[in-house]
Amino acid sequence: MDKPKVVLGVSGGIAAYKACELLRRLTESGHDVRVVPTASALHFVGAATWSALSGNPVSTEVWDDVHEVPHVRIGQQADLVVVAPATADTLARAAHGLADDLLTNTLLTARCPVVFAPAMHTEMWEHPATQENVATLRRRGAVVIEPAVGRLTGVDTGKGRLPDPGEIFEVCRRVLARGVTEPDLKGRHVVVSAGGTREPLDPVRFLGNRSSGKQGYALARTAAARGARVTLVAANTTGLPDPAGVDVVPVGTAVQLREAVLKAAADADAVVMAAAVADFRPATYAAGKIKKKDGQDPDPIVLARNPDILAEISADRARPGQVIVGFAAETDDVLANGRRKLERKGCDLLVVNEVGERKTFGSEENEAVVLGADGTEIPVPYGPKEALAETVWDLVSERLR
Ligand code: CTP
Repeated sequence: MDKPKVVLGVSGGIAAYKACELLRRLTESGHDVRVVPTASALHFVGAATWSALSGNPVSTEVWDDVHEVPHVRIGQQADLVVVAPATADTLARAAHGLADDLLTNTLLTARCPVVFAPAMHTEMWEHPATQENVATLRRRGAVVIEPAVGRLTGVDTGKGRLPDPGEIFEVCRRVLARGVTEPDLKGRHVVVSAGGTREPLDPVRFLGNRSSGKQGYALARTAAARGARVTLVAANTTGLPDPAGVDVVPVGTAVQLREAVLKAAADADAVVMAAAVADFRPATYAAGKIKKKDGQDPDPIVLARNPDILAEISADRARPGQVIVGFAAETDDVLANGRRKLERKGCDLLVVNEVGERKTFGSEENEAVVLGADGTEIPVPYGPKEALAETVWDLVSERLR
């Protein structure tokens, strides 16, 4: 089978160096990548780097290799065009249909999905000119990823950072697999909890669990790709990059997670509780480190019950019609236990995983059955956590309609 053909457009911003990582991920995962930098991009990263990493020739102008008509061919043959970073200038030229270099020619001739990952200073991003250009591109069907918030060039911080290259790669992979789909969650606010809570015993110890947060992050990423405004309440997920365009609220304990979820759920259309919430916490917290005493048995740890957040938000919905989804990890009698848990918690959907050796914790893959309060039972075969996330949003989206 031919490798999918991806055009990586790079425009002139300091974040151009991060596009090298995106390029590496694309080539290593079996894509044939043609890099088309703008002339300004070459001030940041030279043609030799792009050519060596992609294994393909690199040019910026329509006057190179004219006999091959590259200004038409590259766009026509592409399965996906991704522009990262997309500067304010490149967005403007794309929105207005200018064709003054190879990248803008490629954008005009491409009939495949196009993804823009903007990066610029906050003022430039917020300027009405840029916002109108972004709206124009989106109206025409392009995917424009929201910039991340954080450190910009120099001492500035704010919205305008290029999202993590791994996250841009995930958007590309999704668009290649599914095309630019109708953003069925547009205008919706969804809340996803992810990770595992940690319940402190003393300043250095906690009771925790093995949840990596990957399933919750996949849910957040796919909801954002489907147009939703996403709040991701993330419990101890250090190391996972923020999904592009998602509002991340970091928390530690079950009590903090409850507070953050209740706050975000107030105006949410859907809440998905993918976090592994500790059912119990140490009843007392030792302000100083607990020391061992020679010759004495350790004191037992007394536990106190944590609030059941899923049951609480299901019983007392913040909005009529709000859809609530829970997760359950079971080892035996999976479906019967899942059905009972669905009833006990009072949610609309319950994603039931069978936990075992290779499955669920920390892995990239998952297998589940989604039980509906209406008696439905949707099996999701073993596959990427993204695929399970898409099924969850399909079912949520149906219920919101
Ligand atoms: N959950 C929650 N608050 C808690 C515990 C769990 O909101 N204090 C949510 C989880 O986020 C998950 C679902 O409830 O969506 C299932 O949690 P689980 O721990 O499997 O359910 P339990 O009621 O604790 O059942 P079990 O008897 O299996 O421990």
